[in-house]
Amino acid sequence: MSRAGSSVVSRSGRFASGPAATVAAFSESISFDWRLWRQDIRGSLAHAAMLRRIGILTAAELKAIQRGFREIAAEIEAGTFEWKPALEDVHMNLEAELTRRVPAGARLHTGRSRNDQVAVDIRLWLRDECEGVRADVLQLQRALVGFARRHVEVLLPGYTHLQRGQPVYLAHHCLAYVEMLERDLGRFADARERANVCPLGSGALAGSTLPLDREYVARELGFVDSRGKARVTANSMDGVSDRDFLVEFAAAAALTAVHLSRLAEDLILWATSEFNFIKIADAYTTGSSLMPQKKNPDVAELTRGKTGRVVGNLMSLLTLLKGLPMTYNRDLQEDKERVFDTADTVRACLRLMAGMVDHTTAKAVNCRAAAEDPQLLATDLADYLVRRGVPFRQAHHWVGAVVGLAEASGKPLNAVTLSEFQSISPEFGADVVDVFDLNQAMDRRQSIGAPGTAQVSRQLKAWERRLKAAKR
Ligand code: ARG
Repeated sequence: MSRAGSSVVSRSGRFASGPAATVAAFSESISFDWRLWRQDIRGSLAHAAMLRRIGILTAAELKAIQRGFREIAAEIEAGTFEWKPALEDVHMNLEAELTRRVPAGARLHTGRSRNDQVAVDIRLWLRDECEGVRADVLQLQRALVGFARRHVEVLLPGYTHLQRGQPVYLAHHCLAYVEMLERDLGRFADARERANVCPLGSGALAGSTLPLDREYVARELGFVDSRGKARVTANSMDGVSDRDFLVEFAAAAALTAVHLSRLAEDLILWATSEFNFIKIADAYTTGSSLMPQKKNPDVAELTRGKTGRVVGNLMSLLTLLKGLPMTYNRDLQEDKERVFDTADTVRACLRLMAGMVDHTTAKAVNCRAAAEDPQLLATDLADYLVRRGVPFRQAHHWVGAVVGLAEASGKPLNAVTLSEFQSISPEFGADVVDVFDLNQAMDRRQSIGAPGTAQVSRQLKAWERRLKAAKR
């Protein structure tokens, strides 16, 4: 048995020895929770200010604690602070070091437990991270809208089942992703809302016998509603054991990752020789060690691949929580690496994808050639018959027969003659050829949400306006 843990902060008089070295190594969290140091100091300063208000600290003691934390923060910033694994986690490291420098540090843990401390730290961290992810999502939305604007005239086939369906503007395709990302923004704002409640004062699980002013602490830490009213957790047991807000964040992030993965997949497909719709700038691709001609879309592939971790992190968190009895259990320490990884991964993917979209150009000629496949207007042909009073099911059947006829005689749909059309149905008139004018076809798609020329132009302008107004 080796003795781990040293100062008055780490172990009570209850233990004759510290934990075994293997246990200390197994249970430490400083290797990853050190990154909560800003939040931990912030929480401690708010708690200390409150202890001063209720007369537990003197003004001089509070000042000394503030000074001590200022020094420690400067050393951490400078990279000269020594984190001690023997002190387990960020909370014990900071408090022990403060107490070593400032005797009043020994009063700081009054009415507080590491359980409410870790809960407040991770909530503070998550609040900032939600803002950060939102800024990154906005950046990708801007990149997609910019890409759409640069290629506003470009048409390509829209697909279902990865089979050519109907023509759409490339801008319309991009704006579909912008819509998905907009919903993501809403979910991150929501996750932040639920995280924005202060648990400090919950103690280990049952609050405190001391007259803590929880609302003061909440206000100090910005845990307030839109009118500035303090938001504190209403139940001390829930306060220390709730990690729902992390699950919500991980779920929002997992869905964002899924959206990024789908975008990545479209870009990967479009960059193939088979589609050949886009060119990704060299800086966002890599070569092959063996095949000299290769240019691989690795950023998109890695983004698609990393989605697995982000989805896995959500599953880990849910599984972590499912069997926990009330209230705090050490299992909860496992939450941090999962949410840190989730935030880091999704934010990196968002930024890289934005950069890649900014450095991608569409090959307008190839896109147009694919969009001009007359089969893409088979549905328009059915609509033509509908406008002439034919029931859609009947029209669908006749157009199917026209497609079959064209295929059997080895010619494109728009080369079918009027007499061939009329051999299938007398409802086809001489004006049927107009159906195959692609520009007219795009003008006809006018209902809300449709990929028509006027609609897409309106939607693109609306997004440009919204994204300009959105704060970064
Ligand atoms: N390192 C711990 C965690 O991340 C902090 C809380 C520890 N509390 C305790 N009673 N052991 O959850």
